[in-house]
Amino acid sequence: MTHKADFRIWRGDTDGGELRDFKVEVNEGEVVLDIIHRLQATQAPDLAVRWNCKAGKCGSCSAEINGRPRLLCMTRMSTFAPDEVVTVTPMRTFPVIRDLVTDVSFNYAKARQVPSFTPPAGLEPGEYRMQQVDVERSQEFRKCIECFLCQNTCHVIRDFEDNKAAFSGPRFLMRIAELDMHPLDVADRQKAAQEEHGLGLCNITKCCTDVCPEHIHITDNALIPMKERVADRKYDPLVWLGNKIRRR
Ligand code: SF4
Ligand code: F3S
Ligand code: FES
Repeated sequence: MTHKADFRIWRGDTDGGELRDFKVEVNEGEVVLDIIHRLQATQAPDLAVRWNCKAGKCGSCSAEINGRPRLLCMTRMSTFAPDEVVTVTPMRTFPVIRDLVTDVSFNYAKARQVPSFTPPAGLEPGEYRMQQVDVERSQEFRKCIECFLCQNTCHVIRDFEDNKAAFSGPRFLMRIAELDMHPLDVADRQKAAQEEHGLGLCNITKCCTDVCPEHIHITDNALIPMKERVADRKYDPLVWLGNKIRRR
């Protein structure tokens, strides 16, 4: 079944912009990204949108639909009533480049500040041994498609631009937690989590978890355990030392 839907799309660039109204054809089974592509093909050829896979796997098409952070390619038009106005705006936490495309380089800068996996000196490939439970923990975090919807949603930076320097956001605090809980990683991640990446600014509101398209339990499985590990260490350095020794 085909119908005409009312779309309201933010158009603009670094100098500012406005919401513009469009009426666009919608066919059964389509997602919001299909409608954006139809708009480009029929009414707004210069509308900027970032996308790659149209399968929820590349993390490129992040935006806000009726105010909720979502992937354009994974949001079915059947989510909305036929007479509902569908408003599409760029992610709010990052600077707009044009229309629906934002500059997410904040995230790349934060990623570079997390040292990579650091196995013990002398451990050769082939000597890595891990329990299944540790493998599964890492695998959950590694489902991340780097859509940055969690980063966009966390109020610590969404509502307080000045916090960006001191806070790396849920995606990268999760990466630090993954490595800190990895039985073969020997880098000291806990001090950096607190002092360089702003773990203490997270007040576990779980908004990041709510919007994750991969349904990763960011808060419960990464941020809260990381807070507990940092607290253990703060109040009892022997706990930290013991944890490190037991891992080897
Ligand atoms: Fe996206 Fe989830 Fe990864 Fe955050 S943790 S960047 S919401 S996939
Ligand atoms: Fe932000 Fe998620 Fe913590 S939304 S405050 S990082 S639980
Ligand atoms: Fe790849 Fe949407 S286009 S996640």
